[in-house]
Amino acid sequence: MRKAVIAGNWKMFKTRSEARAFMDVFAPKVAGVNHCEIIIAPPFTALTTVIEATQGTRIAVAAQNLHWEKEGAFTGEISAPMIVELGCHAVIVGHSERRQYFGETDSTVRKKARAALAAGLTPIVCIGETSQEREAGETDAVLKRQISGGLAALTVEEFSRILVAYEPIWAIGTGQTATPAIAASAHRLIRQQVSEQFTTESAAQLRILYGGSVKPENISALMAEDDIDGALVGGASLDAQSFASIVKYPM
Ligand code: PGA
Repeated sequence: MRKAVIAGNWKMFKTRSEARAFMDVFAPKVAGVNHCEIIIAPPFTALTTVIEATQGTRIAVAAQNLHWEKEGAFTGEISAPMIVELGCHAVIVGHSERRQYFGETDSTVRKKARAALAAGLTPIVCIGETSQEREAGETDAVLKRQISGGLAALTVEEFSRILVAYEPIWAIGTGQTATPAIAASAHRLIRQQVSEQFTTESAAQLRILYGGSVKPENISALMAEDDIDGALVGGASLDAQSFASIVKYPM
């Protein structure tokens, strides 16, 4: 049985005081939740604020990015040990916005995922096709390439500690959600590729989150699909009430 994961990616939103105000409302609303793991990924500057606010709760905190080296002359970068020391549990790796605007590739994803695992963080590895790729019938090939390229060097044990987020780029921030059937079919393809690349057990245990315009109105239908194990929520995770409704989808 795969435990569901609902993760909120705040992207470059919320100052520390805004993060605190969110947590004051959000944490009590989800206090009774144990059907899923809850993760919040604030910007680096608000990590400690959110971590403090999650003390004594079941909410885990993720960073949105990391560098693959432990330390070094890399101005503006943050390493896995720095994130771990703050009290983070996870880190988003290879989000499509990082691939699109900051030059991330399957090769940097691979290095970042390994660095995160080595430090004891759970990498949330994001993959997904663009609208042009989907229209050209290349979705399967793109997902296979991102899995084989981005996760190639992982051992079966390392792979068992990652989360994958399927985020079709055409659905991110556009209001255009993949239908549950489209998302589930991509998730099945990912599981198939994982079973070929790792083991059938790796595939059966992997939790695959769907991301792209997830809202309180569509979460239940998405989660009703067997192969959808959770959600990575952007815009709708910025509002405490809306994110709490998403987290509480079966309640
Ligand atoms: P969205 O973003 O929910 O605003 O579409 C999802 C994501 O980028 O993780």
